[in-house]
Amino acid sequence: MISKKLEEALNAQVNAEFYSAYFYLSMSADFAVKGLPGFANWMKVQFKEEQDHAQKLFNYIIARGGAPKLMAVDGVKTSWDTPLEVYTDTLEHERKVTEAFNKLYKIALEENDFAAQSFLKWFIDEQVEEEENVIAIIDALKLIGDNGYGLYSMDKDLSSRTFTSALAE
Ligand code: FEO
Repeated sequence: MISKKLEEALNAQVNAEFYSAYFYLSMSADFAVKGLPGFANWMKVQFKEEQDHAQKLFNYIIARGGAPKLMAVDGVKTSWDTPLEVYTDTLEHERKVTEAFNKLYKIALEENDFAAQSFLKWFIDEQVEEEENVIAIIDALKLIGDNGYGLYSMDKDLSSRTFTSALAE
């Protein structure tokens, strides 16, 4: 059984993951509208991953005797000037998500909830990967600068990203 405090914090994180999903779907839409289908695909996969994260937390709340509470999802930004601006926003957002999981882990530590600590470790590791992937894209975009062929070529590369659910992990 999880404590009320942890249940509430996990429910807030379910909402935050749906917000992330919404944020990345909005970025995907903006890329698609601007003729960058590979970037749009990358963000669509990101959108699906965030929904997956929300479900993983949702399932865990139930497994530990709590109750998921789905709250309203805030609206998101809908337009960006450049791909670099999109990924800079993404990195800033993911760093906030990392902070949120660190806070959740701290609650689990304070409560001696070892099962929750074990569960949250997956997300803490996932955040390292999330930030690393986005930093690599930011570095590539900085190298490309205003080079149209570079952007075209990167768009082709990003079109190959596929989604794999982490629900079974
Ligand atoms: Fe659910 Fe992008 O972390």
